Amino acid sequence: MHRMKKLFTVLLFTALAVPALAQETLTMEALRAADYMKGKQTFQGRCSACHTLADDSGDITGPNLWGMFDRVVGTKEGYYFSDALVNAGFVWSPDKIDAWLADPEGYLPGNFMRIPEAVADRDRLNLISFMLIETGAVDWPRPETNFANAQQDMSKPPSERFPSFWNHLMFNTVNYRWENGVAGEDFPFEAYNKADGTIATNVENMFGFWYINDKNFFCYALTGMPVGVGHMVECFPVAAMAIPRFADELWTSKPQPDVILHGGMLPGRPDWVETRLYPE
Ligand code: HEC
Repeated sequence: MHRMKKLFTVLLFTALAVPALAQETLTMEALRAADYMKGKQTFQGRCSACHTLADDSGDITGPNLWGMFDRVVGTKEGYYFSDALVNAGFVWSPDKIDAWLADPEGYLPGNFMRIPEAVADRDRLNLISFMLIETGAVDWPRPETNFANAQQDMSKPPSERFPSFWNHLMFNTVNYRWENGVAGEDFPFEAYNKADGTIATNVENMFGFWYINDKNFFCYALTGMPVGVGHMVECFPVAAMAIPRFADELWTSKPQPDVILHGGMLPGRPDWVETRLYPE
């Protein structure tokens, strides 16, 4: 009798606990707290080749998704859907899109949306949160908007206007590789942007300067380079570095004809950088 009661309690607890847990990932609370920039990255990497989000944007291979969370599946005007979507008969919700992206073929068999693989579990919450914002389903603030506001207040120093950018660039190492296949140049070097506007490097006689212009571009010049014409100038939007990341290679640019400059960020920098522009 006692054991039966215990078993019953366990079963009841399991029956209550499991569905509650399963739903919890996509509460509005969790969606609201999700990472907008990661969601944006996933959308750009996995969806934007075939879908636009903004109101009045056109259909590409897939339908424009503005307003999709108020809409019955497969009913957007002017787009020719498969029978699988036309006959689905439900309104898109975060849970439904989550289930579809986890199993694109199994959830709506016979649909026309050919994506090479399911969207990974860890990416879906951020992606769906981003889509809720960008299709007009919710009016949560975009982090980019906050970032843009901070940029406007020109009276403040860059360390306050772009704190994460500043901390990332002024205390770490930029890892570069200058590659010119035509001239046979393959030149790796490190640069250290300093708060006083100078740039130290790990190459003798090579150093530089940086400044942030009124369009919020970070512009820098390097001189004494043992490659190319011996110097280079380049600008990039501060916003491009808004998310601090570390990797040997994060971007490439073309500072001169035939040159590909590979750039990355490495944590920390040598102590001598505090007092010198290049090693002796
Ligand atoms: C290769 C092109 C392609 C890619 C990539 C793609 N889609 Fe689609 N999508 C489609 C097509 C085509 C349809 C229409 C499917 C049908 O009619 O069966 C569609 C339909 C949809 C719909 C249904 C819209 C409605 O009004 O019912 C949603 C939502 C959607 N896609 C979201 C996404 C998301 C999110 C991603 C990224 C993870 C993505 N799609 C990636 C092509 C694509």
